[in-house]
Amino acid sequence: MTETRKTVWGVLSTANIAVNQVIPALQKSERLVVGAIASRDEDRATAVARRLGIARAYGDYDALLDDPEIDIVYNPLPNHLHVPWTLRALEAGKHVLCEKPLALSAAEATTLIETSKRTGKNVREAFMIRDHPQWLRARELVQGGALGEVRAIHVSFCYDNRDPANVRNQLDIGGGALFDIGCYAVAVGRFIFACEPERVVAEVDRDPDFGTDRLTSAIMVFPGGRRLVFTCATQLVRSQDVQIIGTTGRVSIAVPFNQSPDREARLLMDDGTVLKGGDPAVETFGPVDQYLLQAEAFSELCVSGSVDPYGLQDAVRNMSVIDALWSSEETRGWADVRQD
Ligand SMILES: NC(=O)c1ccc[n+]([C@@H]2O[C@H](COP(=O)([O-])OP(=O)(O)OC[C@H]3O[C@@H](n4cnc5c(N)ncnc54)[C@H](OP(=O)(O)O)[C@@H]3O)[C@@H](O)[C@H]2O)c1
Repeated sequence: MTETRKTVWGVLSTANIAVNQVIPALQKSERLVVGAIASRDEDRATAVARRLGIARAYGDYDALLDDPEIDIVYNPLPNHLHVPWTLRALEAGKHVLCEKPLALSAAEATTLIETSKRTGKNVREAFMIRDHPQWLRARELVQGGALGEVRAIHVSFCYDNRDPANVRNQLDIGGGALFDIGCYAVAVGRFIFACEPERVVAEVDRDPDFGTDRLTSAIMVFPGGRRLVFTCATQLVRSQDVQIIGTTGRVSIAVPFNQSPDREARLLMDDGTVLKGGDPAVETFGPVDQYLLQAEAFSELCVSGSVDPYGLQDAVRNMSVIDALWSSEETRGWADVRQD
């Protein structure tokens, strides 16, 4: 029996998300290996490589892209560098798992399509929640009719970060709540309803110093009047909540986005019993690392050559919704979502 070769991953930068979450997750896999890391600063790359047991460290990103052993690049650069470095990685013959949001606009995301087709290399936007069993189950419950007809989803995702040096608080490099975490709400609506929203309206509050959106609330309307309502914030208490509400039942996801790899995940289901003093039905899921599941799914896709349900077209559609939300902020009214 032939053993499938492990895919070799290269990481662009010593980003917090890479060092603290994604690389440790990848290193749990039997099916892939982290072969190299690059940083703008060679000493930093070397120190991280040594600490995490990564074979090769590079002092610039291009050197990693020139490494012939790398099959897949993980791109966790600040948002304004997602498309430029993903393009370069594609040109270097690598598949790319790129952090969210894939781009700063749908138009910018679209520029990747031609290169991806020409090189035959995949690009996936890293919405790791789509690989978590709690989300797959929530979608199954919705699509199987367990909640009756689902007509509303409520999402809130907040944290408190006022550090001016943090990438999230820098307008010119793609900071702000909507790009950082509101993009999840958009992805959730499209994932659960399995279609595209038609129009949106947003109310945005900007930090007077940073210029970034620190509190964004919005309604996304899907076909048939179904809607997702969300709030995302960079200066509110750290919290996250998702409620999926149907005609006969409601599911709430206890820790929807940053579910720890060491803890059980829980879905709480209620048909109105809670209001009468009863308890919700609880469905639990053993601890899993959603970053590991995401990486293995993407790795397998790249090896098998099959079509990615979460490829560039999906990412462009997510960005089109974000474009419409910005447009609503500008016009102070409803904005149609561009459909392809
Ligand atoms: N999926 C998730 O759960 C998740 C969670 C957090 C963040 N993210 C995404 O991951 C990305 C990085 O977030 P993060 O919080 O990890 O950021 P971060 O710690 O600030 O890391 C960004 C890295 O990019 C490199 N870089 C290159 N040019 C830069 C510039 N002009 N300014 C700042 N850094 C620059 C730096 O690495 P070197 O100096 O080593 O080159 C830096 O460490 C963002 O796109 C964010 O949306 C995703």
